[in-house]
Formats: sequence, structure tokens, C-alpha cells
Amino acid sequence: MAKSLIKLFLFSFTFPLFASSLWEKDLEILSPRENVYGLAESELKARVAAGRKAALFYPVTVSDLLLPYDPISAFFDSEADDPVRQLLYSLARVVSPYKNMDEVYAWVGLHTYPAAAQPENPNPLPELTPEERSRPMGTTVFETEDGEALTFGCAACHSGNLFGVRVLGLTNRFPRANEFFRQGATLAPYVNSFLFQGALHTTAGERRMFARAKGALRYVGTKVPVTLGLDTSLAQVALSLAKRRPDEFATRTAVSHRFPRKNKLAELVADSKPAVWWNLKYKNRWLSDGSIVSGNPVHTNFLWNEIGRGTDLVRLDGWLKENTRTIEAITAAVFASRPPRYEKFFGSGAIDLARAKLGEAHYKVSCQRCHGGYEKGWSREDAAGLSLDELLQNHRVTYHRRTPVRNVGTDPGRYLGMFEFSADLNRLAISKNIGTVVVPQKGYVPPPLDGIWARWPYFHNNSIPNLCALLTRSEERPATYHAGEARSKETDFDRECVGYPLGEKTPGHWKKDPDYFYDTTKEGLSNKGHDEGIFLSAGREIYTREQKLELIEFLKTL
Ligand code: HEC
Ligand code: HEC
Repeated sequence: MAKSLIKLFLFSFTFPLFASSLWEKDLEILSPRENVYGLAESELKARVAAGRKAALFYPVTVSDLLLPYDPISAFFDSEADDPVRQLLYSLARVVSPYKNMDEVYAWVGLHTYPAAAQPENPNPLPELTPEERSRPMGTTVFETEDGEALTFGCAACHSGNLFGVRVLGLTNRFPRANEFFRQGATLAPYVNSFLFQGALHTTAGERRMFARAKGALRYVGTKVPVTLGLDTSLAQVALSLAKRRPDEFATRTAVSHRFPRKNKLAELVADSKPAVWWNLKYKNRWLSDGSIVSGNPVHTNFLWNEIGRGTDLVRLDGWLKENTRTIEAITAAVFASRPPRYEKFFGSGAIDLARAKLGEAHYKVSCQRCHGGYEKGWSREDAAGLSLDELLQNHRVTYHRRTPVRNVGTDPGRYLGMFEFSADLNRLAISKNIGTVVVPQKGYVPPPLDGIWARWPYFHNNSIPNLCALLTRSEERPATYHAGEARSKETDFDRECVGYPLGEKTPGHWKKDPDYFYDTTKEGLSNKGHDEGIFLSAGREIYTREQKLELIEFLKTL
């Protein structure tokens, strides 16, 4: 009896203590936390697979911003001859020219599932049914008591298409999730439920769902990114909180949404790209500016995602408490994720080993103190017996025990943005329950460079098109560039410079779409900084062009 009481005591007290101690402020990271919960191998595999699935299919059923799937898809898929439908259709088309649901998905920037398993994929997708694979990655349709609901999951922003390979954990380069929300919010007041009912033959449940979504949208403050490829989640969370009362559950009231509190993020540009997931294992603080200093970053993401969807935080709090296993599974998956390898895409012969070794020396002199150390396979004692492929691997990565933040003169908008709503976030009961603390910073985390070859364009604001440009002094970097999808290895990627092809190498069709034009003179898109004290010394170049290419050859192997 006494023994089982002690067990009970230990279980109920040590487990939460143990779990939160993984996310303490200033916790020192002594070795990469690929297996963050220290699970046995088979258990880890199962949890990671479950976590990837939950990253693809959004699990939060108490989300208030769910769209009735059948009428929405019927609406976009239909040939509009019904006059009411025509009216709705033209209202939507005013905003965007979708012709069917697949075009809507493509416009949002979602990637279809690959037809078969892809050997280059570092984070294999879980097994899915044909029904689950029928809609693009991140699209989530689930059954509710009011009918089938449509929403979007983590993978909408956190999966990339790398020459046809769908990489979970890679940044989605062209997401329009924020724009989708903004259009939804614009359209919602027009589509009154009666019109909706007649034109689209909705059920009573679907009308309830739509009314709830419309209600939630009143508490969503949206903002369109300055340029395609960046995300305004920061502003969306801040502006949405500003439409709620400043209490610990950010209560939604008619007054609070009609008279939102002023927030500078309505004007200030704080856009940033979605982060890659395989860096988490090295860090003890989160986001591009390292401003989240404690708490499980996945937990925090659910909170922020749901604030941005106008959800009732009392209900969310309940959901979070009941779904710790789902959150842990996503956490396990995110921490276990790996970067795509250059040699798997281009062949081991595509890397010039001798030059990469020369580049390694430059890296140690100029980069390692911020970005961490990479011991390569070729430096191993047993290197003589290794294959070329094994020589190229990272044998050991040593990042800082405590994730640093440095100001290297890059665009300040994103880190300044955090000063505008950290108090609103820290006040929330959910933040306190999950141990999330936000401390605004003045600078950015020098990110670990694993898989950096696949992470173009560079910097938190995408202002640098390729690594040659990154290693060029600020004033001489390209002021504008054209972006495009990474479809062809030959035409859409500059292998020497690693990243977007520039100038006459730019594919012609990229130049036709203004959405894909990046202009560093716009607010928040500055490409300055990260030169003096790194590869410039008192304004003078430390490296020749040839040495910079050696350094880039080394970076390809990380
Ligand atoms: C609308 C796009 C979007 C969605 C959806 C989204 N994220 Fe993110 N995520 C971002 C952006 C943008 C950042 C980087 C923001 C910054 O730090 O400037 C980010 C950062 C992160 C980070 C921090 C990475 C680091 O290195 O510190 C984690 C972890 C993360 N997201 C996980 C998730 C999870 C889990 C979900 C689903 C619950 C999710 N995200 C959904 C856009 C998104
Ligand atoms: C003083 C610290 C420091 C040094 C030294 C340094 N960096 Fe950085 N680096 C940073 C910071 C901070 C960022 C993030 C800047 C941003 O996103 O605005 C960064 C960003 C980058 C990025 C973009 C990462 C991404 O995900 O977009 C690359 C690539 C990079 N650095 C390469 C290098 C190389 C190569 C060297 C050596 C020649 C180097 N850095 C030296 C601090 C440093």
C-alpha cells in the first residue's frame, strides 16, 4: 500500500517536473537533442511517425476557425450558373482567380503528396490512406458533429518542395496562408448565412460551423506579407490579441473587437520566413530572434496558431491539457527531423572534397564562433576506410550550450516586432501553464547551418538570394531578385553559388510574375549586415573569390 502510494506520488509529481525541466530557461544543451524525450528506439520511431502525421493533419478540434468542407469545395469546384452562386463566386474572384479547389490549394502554396516514397527525403512521410493523400500536405479535413471541417496544419508552412522531393521540416518558400486568412476575413461579412444556405445546399450543422468561423474571424487581425515567401504570424498574433481583452484568457467581447487596442505591428513590418525544424535539437530558445526563452516551442506554436485563428482560449487550454500525447509526438518528430543532404540530390561526386577541406579552414576562422563547429567524416581517425559519402557527413556538431543572439546589422524589423506584444503573451494563463516566457531581444540567433544549401533564400527575411550574395559586402549585394519554385536542378538552382540563379541565369518565366519579385529597398526587406567583422575587416575583404567558393563548397556538406 505504502509502496504504491509512493509510486503514485512519484508518478504524479516527477513526470510533470521532468517534462517541464526539458524546457527550462537557460537549460544547457550538452549534446543535440534528436531524441528529446529519451525514448527507446522502437518507441521513438512510432512517436515520430505519429508526430509527422499530426504535423500534416491539424489536430486541434476546438479551433473556432473551421470551414465547412463540402460547401466550400462545391463552391470552388462548381460551374456557376445559379445566380446566387454566381454572385458569391464573383465576390471571391474579385479577390483571387481560383477556378477549382485544387487551384485554391496551389495558390495557398500547398504541395501535393509524392506518388511514391522518395529516397532523398530525410524525414519520410508516415503511411497514409489514399483519401488522406488526395489533398495536399497540410490540408486537414475531419469529421465534426456539424459536418466535415477544413483547416490547415503545421505542414502548410513547414514543408517544402525541393526538386520534387517533399521535405517535411523545410520552409515552404511560397506560403499564402496569411493571405488566405485575410481574404477569408474580407469575404466573411458578404457571405451571409442565408445566401450561403440557398446557393450551396448547406446543412444546419454546416451553417453553424460557418457562423462560428465568421465569429472567430472578428478576433483575427490579419496582415499580408510585404513579399511572397514571408509570413506575418507575429503581426497576426499581436493584432488578434489586440482584439481581445487584456486578461489572462484574452477574453473575446463585442467591445474588444470593435475597439481593438492600438498595436504598432499594424504598421511595423516584422515578417519572417518559417524556420526549418532540424535546428531545434541544438537550441534552448526559440524563434529567429531567440525571444522565447523557455517552454516547449511546439506547445507555444499551438497557442500562437490558435490566437491567430480567433479561438476561445479557455477551450484551447482544456484541449492542450487533454492532448499532451499529441503535442509530445509532434515535439518528438520536430526534434528528430533531419536536413536534406546535398550528395543525395546531386551525387557524392558533385562535391569537390579537396576544395571543401580548404573551405573548412575558412569556416573555422570566420564562422564557427557563431554558427557552431562541424567535425566532418574526413577528420575521423578511421577516415581512410570510409566511403566518399561517409567522408562528407557531419561526424559531430557542437553548437553553443546556450543559444546566443547576435546583432550583425541585418534588418531589425522582426526582432523589434516582439517588443510590441510580449507583455500580452506573457500575461496569458496558457503561457504560464506551459512555461512559455517571451523576452524581446536585439538581434537574431546565428542558426546552425545543417542543410544550409537547401535553405535559400537566406536570412530571416529572405533578403539574400544565394550564398555568393551572402558573402558579398552589403552595398554590392543584389538589390532585387526574382524567386521561383525549385523544380529543376538544372535551371532553378545555381550550384556554384548555392541558391537562386541571378541575372541572365534567372528562368524567364520567373520574371513574369510580380509576386515573385523581391525588392530589398522595401521596409523589412533590407539585405544589409552580416559582413563587417565576418568576412570584412575594417572594410577590406579577408577572402579572395576563390576562397569564398571553397567556403561555399564546405557549406554544401553541412
Ligand atoms: C502560417 C505559417 C505557419 C504555420 C501554420 C506554423 N508555423 Fe511554425 N513557424 C512559422 C514561422 C514564420 C516561424 C518563424 C518565426 C520567427 O521566428 O521569425 C515558425 C517557427 C516555428 C518554430 C521555431 C523554430 C526555431 O528554430 O526556433 C517551431 C518549433 C514551429 N514553427 C513549429 C510549428 C508547429 C508545430 C506548427 C503546427 C502546430 C507550426 N509551426 C505552424 C510559420 C508557421
Ligand atoms: C558574429 C556572429 C556571426 C558570424 C561570425 C557569422 N554569422 Fe552567419 N549569421 C549570424 C546571424 C545572427 C545570422 C541571422 C541573421 C538574420 O537572419 O537576420 C546569420 C545568418 C547566416 C546565414 C543565413 C541562415 C539562414 O537560415 O537563412 C548563413 C548562410 C550564414 N549566416 C553563414 C555564415 C558564414 C558562412 C559565416 C562565416 C563566413 C558566418 N555566417 C559568420 C551571425 C554570424
